[in-house]
Parts: sequence; C-alpha cells; structure tokens
Amino acid sequence: MGEDLVSSSLGSFQYDPAPESRLTARLRPNYGLFIDGEFTNPMSHDQFETLNPATEETLSSVAQASSTDVDRAVLSARRAYEKVWSKTTGAERSKYLFRIARLIQERSREFAIVETLDNGKPIRESRDVDIPLSAAHFFYYAGWADKLDHAGFGANPKPLGVAGQIIPWNFPLLMAAWKLAPALAAGNTCVLKPAETTPLSALLLAEILQQAELPAGVVNILTGDGSTGAALVDHGGVDKIAFTGSTDVGRLIQQRVASSRKRLTLELGGKGANIVFEDAPMDEMIEGVIDGIFFNQGHVCCAGSRLLVQESVADDVLRRLLRRVDQLRVGDPMDKNTDVGAINSSAQLARINKLTEYGEEEGATRYSSSCPLPDKGYWFAPTVFANVAQSHRIAREEIFGPVLSVLTFRTPEEAITKANNTNYGLACGVWSEKGSRTLWVANRLRAGVIWANTYNRFDPTSPFGGMRESGFGREGGRHGLEAYLNV
Ligand code: NAI
Ligand code: MG
Repeated sequence: MGEDLVSSSLGSFQYDPAPESRLTARLRPNYGLFIDGEFTNPMSHDQFETLNPATEETLSSVAQASSTDVDRAVLSARRAYEKVWSKTTGAERSKYLFRIARLIQERSREFAIVETLDNGKPIRESRDVDIPLSAAHFFYYAGWADKLDHAGFGANPKPLGVAGQIIPWNFPLLMAAWKLAPALAAGNTCVLKPAETTPLSALLLAEILQQAELPAGVVNILTGDGSTGAALVDHGGVDKIAFTGSTDVGRLIQQRVASSRKRLTLELGGKGANIVFEDAPMDEMIEGVIDGIFFNQGHVCCAGSRLLVQESVADDVLRRLLRRVDQLRVGDPMDKNTDVGAINSSAQLARINKLTEYGEEEGATRYSSSCPLPDKGYWFAPTVFANVAQSHRIAREEIFGPVLSVLTFRTPEEAITKANNTNYGLACGVWSEKGSRTLWVANRLRAGVIWANTYNRFDPTSPFGGMRESGFGREGGRHGLEAYLNV
C-alpha cells in the first residue's frame, strides 16, 4: 500500500518540518479556580497536572475543585444572576458576548497553541476549526441576546438562572463556547467544568472574560475531575445542567437530576453511519470519509465511524480508502503539516486498543497505516476494519479513536436498516449524486444531524444534538437558546 505513490515518476518527496512556535502560549506553572471573577486557590489546595499527550510532558498544574469550591462558585453565580445579569438588558449582554468573540479572535494563535499542546490535536485543526468556530459561536449568540422576543419562544422569554455545564476533552474551547454563549445570551449565569485532561483553554478563556470586563460571577470555571462534575450536578442551587460526554456518565447524571427541578440537556456518544452509494462522487467521498473518521483522531461524538458501502463499489472504495489512509501524516501536533495528532490520554488509548483487539478476535480484517509513530506520547495508527458484521463490537460501540469499521449493503432499504441498527442517533452522512435518493434516505435515518456529500460540517447557526442514547436537547442555532430559556 502506498508504494505506488511514493515511487511514482515524481520520485519520493518529503515535507520539511513546519512546527508552530510554543512561545506565544504563556502558560503559568499552576492555575487556581476562576470564581467570582478572580483566580483563587481551591479550599483543599489540591492540584493535578495536565499533560501534553504528544510528549507526556507536564504543561501545568491545575486546581482540583471540591464540593466546597462548587458551593462557592454556585453562590457566586447566583449572586451575579440576581444582582447583575438578570438586570442587564439583552443589548448590554450582547456587547459582552461580542467582546469575548473579538478577544478570542485577537488571541486565536495563542488559543490554538494551548489547545494543541493540551489536547494533542493537530495545530491545523485547532487553528482552522476549533478556535474560529468558538469565536463564531460567541458572535452568533451575541446577535440573539437582544432579540429573544423574536426567537419563537413567545414574548419576553425568561432565563433559567444558574447553569452547571460539564464538558469533555475532545473540543475543549469549542464545547465551552457551545455551552457559555447561548446561556449568557439568554441571561443565565454559569459554572463551567472543563475535562481533567484539557483544562488550559478554558483557563485562558477566564483571562479573556476578565479582559472583557464581564461582571464577576457571571461565569465561573472550576477545574477538577468527575467528582467535581458530580458535585455540580448534585448542587441544589443549580437550575440547569448541560453535559457533553460519555453515555454512561450521561445516564448517571439523568438519574441524579431526575428527582430535582433541574433542567437537563445531554450530548452523548454516537456511532455515525456514513452511507456511500455506487453513484457517489468518488474523490470527494473518499476525502469526506477520511475527514469523517480521522478528524481530531476520531475523538468526535458525531464521527462517521461506520462506513456503509454499496456492494457494487465496495472493493474499489476500500482500495482507494486504504491508499489515502496510508498517506495521512501522523505525528507532532504542533507541525502544520500533521493530519492526525496524539490520542488525548493513556486511558483513551487503552480503550481504543481494547476495542480494536475485539475487532480482530471477532474476525474483522484489520488494516493499519504503516506510518511511523513517535516513541513518546500516546499514538494510534489510523486503522480501517473491513469485513465487519453488525454484531461485532466495533460496529456497535463508540471507539472514539481513529478506527473505521466498513460494512456493505445492496439496496437503499438495507442501508437504512443497517444505519439505524444502533442505540445511538447523533449523525449520519449520505453520499450520492442523486438528490432525490439522498432526501429519501435522510428522511428515514434516525439521527439528529444528516450530512449530504460532506461530513463534520459545523456552523453556529445550525442546531446539533442527538436522539436515543446520543442524548437530547440541541446546541447551536435558534434551537440552542431553548435549552437556556424557561419555555
Ligand atoms: P466522561 O463522560 O467521563 O467525561 C466527560 C466529562 O464529564 C468530564 O468533564 C468529566 O470530568 C465529567 N464527569 C465524569 N464523571 C462525572 C460524573 N459522575 N458526574 C458529572 N461529571 C462527570 O468521558 P471520558 O471518560 O473522558 O471518556 C469515555 C468515553 O466517553 C470515550 O471513550 C468516548 O467514547 C465517550 N466520550 C464522548 C464524548 C462526546 O463528545 N460525546 C466526549 C468525551 C468522551
Ligand atoms: Mg492535557
């Protein structure tokens, strides 16, 4: 695989390293909690380290918030809600959101570097996707803050109060933006808990909130592990919980919240089907399928992790796909030419290894890229499994890594049955030149997001969210406001 390209008439060629400089990112050796507009020490003085998963070096030490700290943050958010934010007009709120958006843009390079160092994702992605989209979310919701009367929820819709927001490590700043921007636009105050392996961009965002002179307590940011998240979920002073993460933790949160008056939205896992018909535009489709699963190392809840290919073209598609996989450049996330970066943590790498071992044991055929992997850090070669059956674990469970399972189908009906044969329902893709077929299929797919002849497209104006075990509630668009309004 791949030799035919390397030894073509062009001869072999290599990219020179093109590393982004780390100097722009001025990381502090340690960080406190962001409560009431200031960085403060956690009550217990417990700290934990966050690593660069590409090198295993320690980047910084951050505070572990206890339930006492959660209490302080919720009280601060409540005070800010009652005394300031609920009395601030929509037009005023929008000014702050515009400021935050502009400051993210101004410091976008710094954000991209911090995100890549802390998360392991390629700098190309943090620079071109995560950070611009984060700013775009603040811009978009800034525009809604003074127009809530016209959002379709009746006249003068009211905020919920204090929102507790728990986010994962795969898109750290972007998930913070998805949660904070609509909440603030709608008039809520927030307590945000970033994931334990990727707290740094949220702490940088805290600096921006200070720079934007957002009133103290309107946003509080608590670093910590699952126990911090659990304390936030259980806190009696919180009116709403918004969670993005694993289905297991989502289920747990739903149980904890069930007996309370708290509102809840959950954005959980997925096992997205990318459906390729025989008339699909071949080159675009291959790129879309690659992007659908290898973008962000496959740490994407809506990843197109199941490829369903029409049998008549399956051999050809697999051949082209494997050739393309072998060309992916895996390695230093700070290099601007890198396509696939590091796996976010050793725990996640262990999960991916375990599930791919099941894939081999259950009889699927494994192809892994022959790319060299760095010695230090957490790495997984882009992998494709062919001959996958629907009963295989790699066809049913979310791997959350650079691993694609390929299945085949003969008729559109069979494609739909197979695509819907999952407990999840977050996203699907359809590849065909025929618009009528795409619409016919899309209407029958049970998923919150359907992409046609593209994949992993995000836009703040477009609602995103799941059904069944992928959760409920929408983020983005006008729909995203509903999650933070008393309607
Ligand atoms: P996780 O669900 O444990 O972590 C997500 C967030 O929830 C983190 O901030 C974590 O500290 C917090 N959390 C953990 N336990 C909690 C609790 N009991 N109460 C409140 N908050 C809690 O996910 P994890 O362990 O990082 O990844 C496990 C698997 O979950 C992945 O392999 C992947 O399949 C899936 N996942 C899905 C994501 C998505 O975007 N849908 C994001 C991250 C993980
Ligand atoms: Mg980290």
